[in-house]
Amino acid sequence: MEVVIVPDGAELGKLVAAVIAGLVRRRPDATLGVATGSTPLPVYDVLGSMVAAGRLSMHGCRVFLLDEYIGLPAGHPQSYRAVVEREVVRRLDLPSSSVLGPDVSAPDLIAACADYERLIQRSGGIDLQLLGIGADGHIGFNEPCSSLGSRTRVKTLTPRTRADNARFFDDPADVPQHVITQGVATILEARHLVLLAVGAGKADAVANAVEGPLSSFVPASAIQLHPHATVVVDEAAAGGLQLADYFRSTYTAKPSWQSL
Ligand code: GLP
Repeated sequence: MEVVIVPDGAELGKLVAAVIAGLVRRRPDATLGVATGSTPLPVYDVLGSMVAAGRLSMHGCRVFLLDEYIGLPAGHPQSYRAVVEREVVRRLDLPSSSVLGPDVSAPDLIAACADYERLIQRSGGIDLQLLGIGADGHIGFNEPCSSLGSRTRVKTLTPRTRADNARFFDDPADVPQHVITQGVATILEARHLVLLAVGAGKADAVANAVEGPLSSFVPASAIQLHPHATVVVDEAAAGGLQLADYFRSTYTAKPSWQSL
């Protein structure tokens, strides 16, 4: 695992956008796993500027949702499909058909989860998966005590996650209780994981994920199992890391030939 500590969200955006742009230039039909939430927005901003300036085309890429709410009316602005349409597809000038996600309106949700797993596999897997982290250590919507071997499935949100996500809804009671999320083991199959966090509110979750024991209680700690995981955090989110100085010096001394 590589941990990169940047001054702020803007620098995080530039760094991670450069990694994605590098991937897309090497592989124009790259498959990207996108995260919602506020943390990745600077990444989409920088990528959007590159696309607008004609320095990058993402037209051949496919975009996979990490998770989705169950029970929101079709087209609800806070459904993750709508968020990804707004924040990713429009800014990156992608065709809407390039966004793939679980079918949360299917009459058989268990079958819809299995279908989504197959869709990811048939697409050749995900090249780069962006991840945020919940204050309780969740990735996607894999709440604490999610099996580290879990696949895409229906989950129930914790009261804490519903409260954290209430800022996006008019009424906190509107935050759905149920979701479909890629499982922890599904996420671990992506070829490169890039976990992002900003702000002091994420410091404990980041420290537990990076330096704590591997535990389903902190689903993000599963990234410790991944051969290519990059954690990009701002100074505040790095506040709980015992090895912060080591991570800083490692990054400063990184050979120029070695990419993230
Ligand atoms: C939601 C999403 C996660 C995201 C988390 C953190 O729970 N399901 O994928 O990582 O929010 O969001 P933020 O980046 O806004 O803190």
